[in-house]
Amino acid sequence: MCGIVGYTGKSDALSPVLEGLRRLEYRGYDSAGIALPTQPGEKLWIEKRSGKLGNLEGVLGDAVPKSHSGIGHTRWATHGGPTDKNAHPHVDNEGKLALIHNGIIENYVELRNELEKRGHVFTSETDTESVVHLLSDARKSHNGDLAAAMRDVCKELRGSFTLLAIHSDDPERIVGARRNSPLVVGVGDGENFLASDVAAFISHTKRALELGQDEVVDITPLSITVTDLNGAVLPHNEYEISWDASAAERGGFPHFMLKEIYEQPKAVADTLIGRTHGLSEEITAGIDLKAITKVVIIACGTAYHAGMVGKYAIERWADVSVDVELASEYRYREPSIDKNTLVIPISQSGETMDTLMALRYAKSHGAKIFSVCNTNGSTIPRESDGVLYTFAGPEIAVASTKAFLTQLVAMYLFALHMGRVRGTLSPELDAQLAQEIAELPGKIEQVLETVEPLRELTRKFKDSTSMLFLGRHVGYPTALEGALKLKELAYMHAEGFAGGELKHGPIALIDEGTPVIAIMPTENSLLNEKMASNVQEVKARGAIVIAIGDADLPSATHNIRIPHTHEFLQPVLAVVPLQVIAYEMAVARGNDVDQPRNLAKSVTVE
Ligand code: F6R
Repeated sequence: MCGIVGYTGKSDALSPVLEGLRRLEYRGYDSAGIALPTQPGEKLWIEKRSGKLGNLEGVLGDAVPKSHSGIGHTRWATHGGPTDKNAHPHVDNEGKLALIHNGIIENYVELRNELEKRGHVFTSETDTESVVHLLSDARKSHNGDLAAAMRDVCKELRGSFTLLAIHSDDPERIVGARRNSPLVVGVGDGENFLASDVAAFISHTKRALELGQDEVVDITPLSITVTDLNGAVLPHNEYEISWDASAAERGGFPHFMLKEIYEQPKAVADTLIGRTHGLSEEITAGIDLKAITKVVIIACGTAYHAGMVGKYAIERWADVSVDVELASEYRYREPSIDKNTLVIPISQSGETMDTLMALRYAKSHGAKIFSVCNTNGSTIPRESDGVLYTFAGPEIAVASTKAFLTQLVAMYLFALHMGRVRGTLSPELDAQLAQEIAELPGKIEQVLETVEPLRELTRKFKDSTSMLFLGRHVGYPTALEGALKLKELAYMHAEGFAGGELKHGPIALIDEGTPVIAIMPTENSLLNEKMASNVQEVKARGAIVIAIGDADLPSATHNIRIPHTHEFLQPVLAVVPLQVIAYEMAVARGNDVDQPRNLAKSVTVE
């Protein structure tokens, strides 16, 4: 969703604010804007433009005033189209108070009606603008105390938000607040930062503070004060950011996505370190895995596909029934939950609103929560009983790649652990799986060494209107993930099917020349032959079949070989060529690979 940055300190603020926005642009990119105080008590200097950050940068020129503080925003539109007027920051009618926002203010219509009656003039269609007018009035009633005003305003808001505000009367101060939306503080030396994500300030400081739900933070260059909504001062929970600035840079690759695809062996290896022979007790703290009678995995998009693979592994290795649920649907059907239900939210960002809401629902109904997450200090792990962190590092491309692979291995690690605790794994299978899992990073490396011809082959299908993906067993979620990647990046019709389901309807989609990607189950597995028959069925109807597997399929038009592994682990290897196909197709079709249209990373609205 939207990217938010605030800076106050010794430097000329434009530079850290713009740098922060560049690093956060992956969160939203349909407009961008900046507010800088110039002279105390004067109107703020504001510039905002629809389109990518580059449009804003293009109009900045030399006329930008020097300022030691400022706020900046990149937007993913919810209320009101992506126009200059709807871009943030929004200002009060005096032009002295500016506000940026991520999230949705659900009661904005009633607030707006009330504020208009009080004489406030609105200039945008956004939900955010109501908040700046409300804050302006509250600040006056608090004799200019912006933090006190923010606390009052938050009490009146419904919905989710990260808010940052700055007023020209007190130009060194920036006040922020959060509810169900991320905000972190970067602690500098004579300078401080606020941002939706540590990536914004990572080149300036590695010290960060977590902010909790309904907390207000007030920063100046030399002070940081965190309070609850009643004004009680709260202790700081500081942590050190474990990755450095280069992790958030392209490092010679043409796109972040390609860089992240090539980082997968390391991401998986980092996630496995010290874990293949068991998870430490801290990770599953307080959860009696022997007593669990049902597991429910909740996630969205790519993370949901990792959950689907997890279901196969947990059911087989830990002998417990597993449901995988789209987080956005889960709570609305009021599922049956009890204290022996283990709910596993999977989320790269740890901030996905659909997943968070499903987690809270499950927790309030007595379930134990064990999350899988890539972002230290984010909301989902903080609200869980146990957490298994993945170590993919920052994922900047909007389409998830390396985070997905680490989610897959996290599911295997957990399934293995649960099987051991419950005594449902034979020692032979346990040893074989631990060994095969440990070998995955090297095998991903091998896949990456052989993808060049696939890139060339993909370009031949550049003008296709549709591509279908088939898989069986764990190959089915792999097929779904391949199709999702292609939709996101190539803006092309793509669908994933279970191979056996094809004949029940979808086979009607096959036409002369339709490209079909078949994820072949491992050689000699029970399903390999069945899938080979499904390939024959589509070939007979004119499909061009690209088979991905650990052995060549003679009936396929093209074969892409991946190393052999245990059949349950195959998605980790088979999905890599699918990522490459989506990447290459997007490049061939001239699309923006890292920031595909209409999308945003970290979806913090429901
Ligand atoms: C697709 C993609 C999304 C995310 C989904 C969940 O490439 O990135 O489908 O997987 O929005 O995000 P997290 O994992 O942050 O909860």
